[in-house]
Amino acid sequence: MTRVIVCAGGKGGTGKTTTSINLGAALNYFGKRVTIIDANLTTPNVGLHLGVPIVPVTLHDVLKGRSDISEAVYLHKSGTRVVPASIALNDLKRLDITKLDKAIKKLVGSCDVIVVDAAAGLGKEALSALKAADEVLIVTNPEIPAVTDALKTIKLCEEIKKPVIGVIINKTNVLNADMALKDIELILEHPIIGVIPEDRSVKFALVQKDAVVHTHPKSIASIQYKKLAAELFNIDYNESFSEKRGFFGTIKGWFGK
Ligand SMILES: Nc1ncnc2c1ncn2[C@@H]1O[C@H](COP(=O)(O)OP(=O)(O)OP(=O)(O)O)[C@@H](O)[C@H]1O
Ligand SMILES: [Mg+2]
Repeated sequence: MTRVIVCAGGKGGTGKTTTSINLGAALNYFGKRVTIIDANLTTPNVGLHLGVPIVPVTLHDVLKGRSDISEAVYLHKSGTRVVPASIALNDLKRLDITKLDKAIKKLVGSCDVIVVDAAAGLGKEALSALKAADEVLIVTNPEIPAVTDALKTIKLCEEIKKPVIGVIINKTNVLNADMALKDIELILEHPIIGVIPEDRSVKFALVQKDAVVHTHPKSIASIQYKKLAAELFNIDYNESFSEKRGFFGTIKGWFGK
């Protein structure tokens, strides 16, 4: 059965796209058939993060009723399938965002998991992605504005009866005045199921237009994304020897090696 997992969080820039792509890539690494959908229709990023070229059919064409979603699915070189959104400003006209849920449902059965990258905020765009969810992952940062927006997103999920399966704390950094994880859990009243440190490898992966899980498999971020994927799908994950970092590997990881 296909699981539709939506990465949301309210605040912009917390790492929803990074998490969607890397969760997808990590699940693909574990042999799952993955489709990543860019539901950030006004400022889409998935295609840019993954180096998807300008494609003939995008999610915008689907939401305008011009194409079926099956025509907007592209195979990324990694083996992950992607439904990109159009980056053209003109494509925002006459968009029926309410069709998103139905369009996504059409892909159910075609893969094991659909990861949906939601837009920031709690407006129509983010809401339409949340409505398509079987499960919601909240992606936030260890600082009060992000956690406050995460809480609002959780309340919205409660209102529309969408289960929040956990919280991802992204861009943690011991050198910053990060909020304590236990305090975030107390505020959000949901378990933290992933902690992704601020890791320069993520930036290098962006330049290389691929998931950090592929470009820097030994990085802390990459290993944490694999742990998250394994946890979500009950996969027994032991870092293989090549991924074991050890003390020096961990230190090097902070410098993006
Ligand atoms: N763990 C990380 N370590 C370092 N940089 C990160 C990490 N996660 C994300 N970033 C960087 O933070 C920026 C924002 O990430 P991303 O685009 O994934 O956020 P977003 O929540 O999808 O943003 P938006 O709300 O605009 O859609 C990007 O430049 C990304 O490379
Ligand atoms: Mg994004």
